[in-house]
Amino acid sequence: MVSFTNTSNLSYCRDLQVPPLGGGGGVILAIESSCDETSASVCKNGIILSNIIAGQAIHEKYGGVVPELASRAHMENIVPVVDEALKTAGIELKNIDAIAFTQAPGLIGALLVGAEFAKSLALALEKPLIAVHHMQAHVLANMIPEKKPDFPFLCLTVSGGHTQIVLCESPVQMKVIGETIDDAAGEAFDKSAKLLGLPYPGGPLIDKHATNGNPQRFAFPEPQIPGLNFSFSGLKTSILYFLQNAGVSNVYKEDFKATEEEKKQFIDDNLNDICASIQQRIISILINKLKKAAKETGIKNICIAGGVSANSGLRKALVETGDQLGWQTFIPAFEYCTDNAGMIAITAYYKYLAKDFADLSVTPTARAEW
Ligand code: KG4
Ligand code: ZN
Repeated sequence: MVSFTNTSNLSYCRDLQVPPLGGGGGVILAIESSCDETSASVCKNGIILSNIIAGQAIHEKYGGVVPELASRAHMENIVPVVDEALKTAGIELKNIDAIAFTQAPGLIGALLVGAEFAKSLALALEKPLIAVHHMQAHVLANMIPEKKPDFPFLCLTVSGGHTQIVLCESPVQMKVIGETIDDAAGEAFDKSAKLLGLPYPGGPLIDKHATNGNPQRFAFPEPQIPGLNFSFSGLKTSILYFLQNAGVSNVYKEDFKATEEEKKQFIDDNLNDICASIQQRIISILINKLKKAAKETGIKNICIAGGVSANSGLRKALVETGDQLGWQTFIPAFEYCTDNAGMIAITAYYKYLAKDFADLSVTPTARAEW
């Protein structure tokens, strides 16, 4: 058996040389590996110099992310991705001032790959380590562009695993004021797509088909959930019944169930309209809660973040609603919506300014409180 002395106070942590702020230092290498994207980014004084993302097509044929395959793909990708991020940024390892990584939440085997890589690098380079919360990073993706929101702002964070309204008072002070009680918005997209026979991840495909469809054609129910919380599981059930009945009804009917062939024909004939109608309902659920949150808090700086913020209909709806209600709206560029290390780097930059460094004994966790 191997035994170690307490590693939580390594001399490395005590003797760190933290470069002066804004003085040409503050070069951060960030790593993201929480799910099925291996990504690395270099940021200098809050400016992103590179954001390299390697996706994992292997999950497509399984209709969802397979955790062990994700971990293995991260193992394969991490060195070339980090190398490419450094090259693109024109930065050598010796010029890095801190190493950041996604600590939580995510798939534990996937997080471990990025965490151990970052810790090893921090130890070898004798540089500080910064542990980043993935959901806070999605929110702070809005601080990447030149046009940044003033604080406080509200952020609707919509991803494959989360749907939250976050009240952000400063880069390091955030509070979740509403969240889903069941499925996330991304899951609602992906599960609906699966029912339609579309491959994983279905969100972008629903978006694509919706562009050519009529969103008023089919009606799906809007759940009545109190407060600022969301629910998407009822929508999924109603889509299931709707397809089982080949569009005749979206409530369960004992007496009618279409054959597989009828169902397939119905989907083939109406795919664009079905996608547009589903997307429209998901967007109205999100925007209505955002309106409620803005009214209750009196905050008019409104951001969106997370993979689903790449959705063209949601982006449009946010801008239109903002114009009507006098909001300042902010939407990250596409590459900073889905999982990426640029958002980890910008979050790490603020933690760097706050000298919020992690100890080498830090471990990732699948779930994390804010
Ligand atoms: O933030 P993200 O990359 O990973 C998580 O942390 O979950 O979000 C992935 C989710 C998936 O559910 C995917 O289908 C959804 O974002 N997504 C979209 C679009 N692009 C990605 N959903 C709707 N429309 C899109 N264009
Ligand atoms: Zn994410």
